[in-house]
Amino acid sequence: MEGSADVIAEGRSLFNQYCAHCHGPNAIQGERPLDLRRLTLRYGQEAPTVFDETVSKGRLDKGMPVWKGVLSDDVLRRIFIYLQTVQTHP
Ligand code: HEC
Repeated sequence: MEGSADVIAEGRSLFNQYCAHCHGPNAIQGERPLDLRRLTLRYGQEAPTVFDETVSKGRLDKGMPVWKGVLSDDVLRRIFIYLQTVQTHP
């Protein structure tokens, strides 16, 4: 799915609805482990895989919930497309 302006805007709105209370509004979060603008910096080409695994399995020991089954794959994909537009590192 391409990141058209509409999809990105939807992704941002979904992110703000479901993720922002831990990961910050518009993904702006000063606590580095929670800062999803650093996914590419942190994981490089593995960032999409880490995203999928983390939203699928959660990190329950750290307080990250499981989202698979709660949100549709389509919603999660839109959120990821939005996050790609706010990475600190291309
Ligand atoms: C209740 C708080 C909470 C909510 C809500 C939440 N997360 Fe998380 N998330 C966390 C915590 C805590 C971590 C673990 C950080 C760590 O590993 O130290 C995390 C980690 C992640 C990571 C891995 C980050 C990394 O750099 O390794 C991703 C990706 C992620 N969350 C995506 C999401 C998405 C997408 C949503 C919304 C659908 C979401 N989270 C909602 C708390 C939350």
